[in-house]
Amino acid sequence: MSAERRRFLGALPFLGALLAVGTSSVGALLAVPLARFAMYPLRRKPGEVAWSDIGPTTDLTPLAAPVKMLVEIEQRDGWRKMISTKPVYVTRTAEGRLRVLSAVCPHLGCSVAWNDSRRQFSCPCHVGVFAEDGALVSGPPPRGMDELDSTVEDGRLKVRYQYFRQLVTTREIIA
Ligand code: FES
Repeated sequence: MSAERRRFLGALPFLGALLAVGTSSVGALLAVPLARFAMYPLRRKPGEVAWSDIGPTTDLTPLAAPVKMLVEIEQRDGWRKMISTKPVYVTRTAEGRLRVLSAVCPHLGCSVAWNDSRRQFSCPCHVGVFAEDGALVSGPPPRGMDELDSTVEDGRLKVRYQYFRQLVTTREIIA
């Protein structure tokens, strides 16, 4: 047996160990994202709501009346991701701050509409009427329109879309 062949055979156990370590390392690396995916529903905090983009604030200047916008919201049920579109109204306070109101009537959940000539919101189902700032004016709704959490980031208005309990006088988040 040549010296070269003996050296090669002598190195075989070391090469085998090196291969085993490499295979285990790659396996462990691949297992991390798989484990993270499997654990995702457990890691997600209950009630965590993602921010949805409404658009650049420059598109909302000036804002002479509330404007209806559609926002895309992402909901997760375990591993299932659902995307839906919801209407909201963007308004400005007297101080110029942007506010986002849910278009869902706090009475029984119909969609509230803005009436430009009357400068008020009205609900077509039971004639609930709301002022420009969302305050209750008249009708059966127990409270004014619900304000959604909003923020401005890098010049874009974002909203956290949530659902509120109907038929109660105080704003109560249910999802
Ligand atoms: S659902 Fe809006 S007034 Fe009844």
